[in-house]
Formats: sequence, structure tokens, C-alpha cells
Amino acid sequence: MRVYITGVCGQVGSHVAELLLERGDHVWGIDNLATGRREHLGDTKNLTLTLGSIADKQLISETIEEFRPDLIVHAAASYKDPEDYHNDTLTNCVGAANLISAAKSMGVKRFIYFQTALCYGVSPRQQPIQLDHPLFPANSSYAISKAVAEQYLEISGLDYLSFRLANVIGPRNLSGPLPIFFQRLSEGKRCFVTKSRRDFVFVKDLAQCVLKAIDGTGHGAYHFSSGTDVAIKDLYDNVVAAMRLSKYPEPEVRDLGTDDAPSILLDPAKTFADFGPIDFTPLPAIVQSAVDYYNEYGVVGGYTHLRIDAEKKSAVV
Ligand SMILES: NC(=O)c1ccc[n+]([C@@H]2O[C@H](COP(=O)([O-])OP(=O)(O)OC[C@H]3O[C@@H](n4cnc5c(N)ncnc54)[C@H](O)[C@@H]3O)[C@@H](O)[C@H]2O)c1
Repeated sequence: MRVYITGVCGQVGSHVAELLLERGDHVWGIDNLATGRREHLGDTKNLTLTLGSIADKQLISETIEEFRPDLIVHAAASYKDPEDYHNDTLTNCVGAANLISAAKSMGVKRFIYFQTALCYGVSPRQQPIQLDHPLFPANSSYAISKAVAEQYLEISGLDYLSFRLANVIGPRNLSGPLPIFFQRLSEGKRCFVTKSRRDFVFVKDLAQCVLKAIDGTGHGAYHFSSGTDVAIKDLYDNVVAAMRLSKYPEPEVRDLGTDDAPSILLDPAKTFADFGPIDFTPLPAIVQSAVDYYNEYGVVGGYTHLRIDAEKKSAVV
């Protein structure tokens, strides 16, 4: 199989690429290293890597025409500066449009996308959220621009699948609370936690599910979530435990920002029905594998799509 992966040096893209390469498939990856790292991917004969942007229409057309993939896995996204509407729309809207148009014109059979749970807004009408809940991404540049791509996919006529994700974490996770907690605790700085709760799922569990989707399971939108949430403080406590700190550093507890949601629970029933039961990796093991990665590679980034003072960031999702 020939799979074209965008954001291939990122957390999700690199784990999906690894599974495909391990079983002998061919991967053409593209990444501009905005938040991903080159070292997330080794060099192997079945991998071609293009360093460039999906917003470059010509580059996308030429590389897809040359590779002739069976399928596109679109994992690239821009989110690291909540005020940078320009780059968010270039990557998340124009980039997606380039990929969808190229897929249509070159007969690519299938398209896999990753959507943010913030597509439902920060005050969803129901918990857990059902797949037919209206999309209302009017809360951040990231959510607005990410929702657009799924709507283009809907009108494209392509056979597509959109995974609307809970909080995906594990090795190579460089955005959100986990790397920020690790970084600050390593520097002996105090962290704060908000009163929010989140459903944290392991990137390798997601990658296994994506592999099934690559092989033909599923059509349309799915939630990739466990359906249960934990307090951000539980995540913090797991990071402290995984770092084996001798003394427990008490975090400061803060109220939520206006662009943040108290909890976002996604109902995974359709995913279990179509993909089968998922044996979710427990949070302590997920956090330990992420901390092992940070210890080996260091933490760069600590990105977040939320509007907070960079000095104070420590508990955002
Ligand atoms: N991790 C989560 O919790 C989560 C939740 C909801 C949705 N998602 C979505 O899942 C996908 C993967 O997320 P991730 O956790 O791997 O993030 P990530 O930041 O690790 O990976 C994104 C990758 O896209 C690359 N990229 C950004 N702009 C690009 C451009 N213009 N051209 C080419 N490459 C570009 C980055 O360098 C990075 O390697 C994204 O679409 C994201 O919006 C992730």
C-alpha cells in the first residue's frame, strides 16, 4: 500500500508512519517542522520525506502525482500561536483544500483526517457528545480553521474518515499540558492546573485504529475517545510520579480561561461498533512513556492553541 502522510514528523503522523513502514508499506511524508521534529522518523528505504508546507499547492500536486498514493492520512495542523490566523488558515484550510483537490483529481481512494473536539465549541449541549451534535467551532482560530477541512471533505465526494479526537498524548507529544508540566517541573518551576477534566488517550492506541481505517474500516466521522475523563490534576500527579520527584510540588489551582472547556467527553459508541473494542492503555503507562521520551529527547515547544501568558502556561489542553 502507498500512503501519503502530512504532518509525518508530528506525534500522530510519525506513529502511523512507523506502523505502515514496519509492515512493508510505502510512505511519502510531508512536514514543515512547525511543531514536529525530524528525529521522530528514522530513515528507511520505503520512506520518502519532503520538508515543505501543505499550503504550497504546486508541491502538493507534484508530490501526490509522483507518488500516486492509495490513500492520504492528513495529520498536519497549525495551532501553536492562537493569534496567528494567517498560518492557521494557510495550513488548516488552504493546505487541506490543496490535499482534497489533489486527491480528487488524481483518484486517491480514501482520505483520513483528524478533527479537534473543540469543533463542538466550549459549551457543548450534551455530555457525552454524540456525533450528530452540531459543529460550533467559534472559540479559537485552531477550531475554526480545523472544522473547515471536514466540511470540504463532506462536499468532496471522497471516501473519507474524520477522527474527532479526545486528548491524544504519549511519546512525541509536544503540545498541551503534559510536556509543559514536564518542562516546568524539570526546571523546578511551579505549575498551575485548571479545574478542567479531559479524556486522555494514547497515541499508539490511536495509531492502531488508524491502521484499521487505512485498511478499509469506517466511513465518515468517528470519535476516538475512551468516554471517561480525569481531572488535569490527575495528569499532573502522574507526571510527578513518572519523574520520580522526591518531594510532591503542590500545583496552584486556577479557574478556566474563556476559550477553554470544563470537560469534553466524546461518545465512542460508533467507533467500538465499527472498529471493535479498544483496549485503552492506562494513564500511568501513557505518561511514563511520554516522560521517558522527554528524558531522552528533551522538550521543545510546549505549544498550545489557548490564549494564555507564555510564562504562566502549565495546564492547558
Ligand atoms: N493531539 C491531540 O490531542 C489532538 C486533538 C485533536 C486533534 N488533533 C489533530 O491531530 C493531528 C495530529 O496532531 P499531533 O498531536 O500529531 O500534532 P503535532 O503538532 O505533533 O503534529 C502536527 C504536524 O504537522 C506539521 N505541520 C504543521 N503545519 C504544516 C504545514 N503547513 N505543512 C506540513 N506540515 C505541517 C507539524 O510540524 C507537525 O509535525 C492534527 O491535525 C491535530 O489538529 C490532535
